[in-house]
Amino acid sequence: MGSKCLVWAFGTLLLLAATADAQLSTTFYNSRCRNLTAKVDEIIRRTIRRDRTLAPALLRLHFHDCFVRGCDASVLLNSPRGGQGEKEAIGNKDSLRGFQVIDDVKNQIEAMCPGVVSCADILALSARDSMRAFGGITWSVPLGRRDGIVTSAAEANRDLPPPFANFNTLSTLFNGKGLSDKDMVILSGAHTVGFARCASMQTRLYSFSAANPTDPTIDPTFAAQLKRQCPQGDNTTLILNDQTKPSDTWDFNYYSNVLRSKSLFGSDDAMKRNAAARKIVLTQNKPGSPFSAEFANAMEKMGRIGVLTGRTGQIRKICTQTN
Ligand code: HEM
Ligand SMILES: *[C@@H]1O[C@H](CO)[C@@H](O)[C@H](O)[C@H]1NC(C)=O
Ligand SMILES: *[C@@H]1O[C@H](CO)[C@@H](O)[C@H](O)[C@H]1NC(C)=O
Repeated sequence: MGSKCLVWAFGTLLLLAATADAQLSTTFYNSRCRNLTAKVDEIIRRTIRRDRTLAPALLRLHFHDCFVRGCDASVLLNSPRGGQGEKEAIGNKDSLRGFQVIDDVKNQIEAMCPGVVSCADILALSARDSMRAFGGITWSVPLGRRDGIVTSAAEANRDLPPPFANFNTLSTLFNGKGLSDKDMVILSGAHTVGFARCASMQTRLYSFSAANPTDPTIDPTFAAQLKRQCPQGDNTTLILNDQTKPSDTWDFNYYSNVLRSKSLFGSDDAMKRNAAARKIVLTQNKPGSPFSAEFANAMEKMGRIGVLTGRTGQIRKICTQTN
């Protein structure tokens, strides 16, 4: 082998090593913290048995983490001076739940493998394990994310989708995170589970516009039902995202609700206001729906947004503060 060739081979090896380092892998902790995934799963199962509503909450926490600075656990950080972290952003304040679950898992994992497992990976695993325990859905979680050191309310207000956004605004936000319109339609199907505060419905029900105090795109019977559940000025009552079933379950009802104008948010209704997106909605809403499989793929993709790997970021010791 000539020296040029050796240099080339060595360079390729270095490149391969760097690339391998920068990629997430389901076996990332196998040598670093052997029993990690079993342990997280066990803790989360116990948690969800105690309170099922924490599963949708953890799913949303992971989504809101990934959309702001990537999946780097920035959503978990308390802002040092108070009042300006992601927790204080409009879409998060008085709304995100499940922080104590992550702290609990982190404490137990630190006791087992100190300084090894990132808060971002713990959040990604907890979201998946909780929804698996909730029932009917799971996805693959490649690991190796590292934790960020910055949290910003301003960035969260810029990057998190608001419930009154139209299709184009939502599309721009999702595309900006490397997700397609299809990913967006599929991921929005998460609104088949979980709760919303009446605060999130006030404008749509009571002060939509001067001409129409109630959003005219809502089915009138459904609007009347929502108004009974969420009286004007009620910011605190929690109501089910999917109003068509007595208990919260994983299914493709979301798409049926969108088509019948019986979803909670303008952003849900928007999913049928674009021809290509509407086709995807129709495809999900059939017997033998591909929804769960497509949701699993989209979640894995979402979990890769802007991840810190290799030597970037840090492994936080405590999820609410940088080291
Ligand atoms: C398309 C843009 C989206 C908008 C505008 C949006 C907006 C909202 C709003 C306003 C709530 C109620 C929050 C409250 O009132 O406290 C909510 C709840 C929820 N969202 Fe979304 N969301 C979107 C996409 C997603 C995605 C992509 C996921 C996950 C993959 C998701 C998962 C959830 C879950 C699980 C809940 C219930 C949380 C709980 O029970 O604590 N959402 N969303
Ligand atoms: C791994 O964790 C699970 C769940 O906590 C536990 O049942 C199992 O005994 C552990 N295995 C080892 C080898 O520590
Ligand atoms: C509900 O929230 C809105 C918007 O923040 C506020 O203007 C209103 O006073 C609140 N209502 C009550 C009863 O707290």
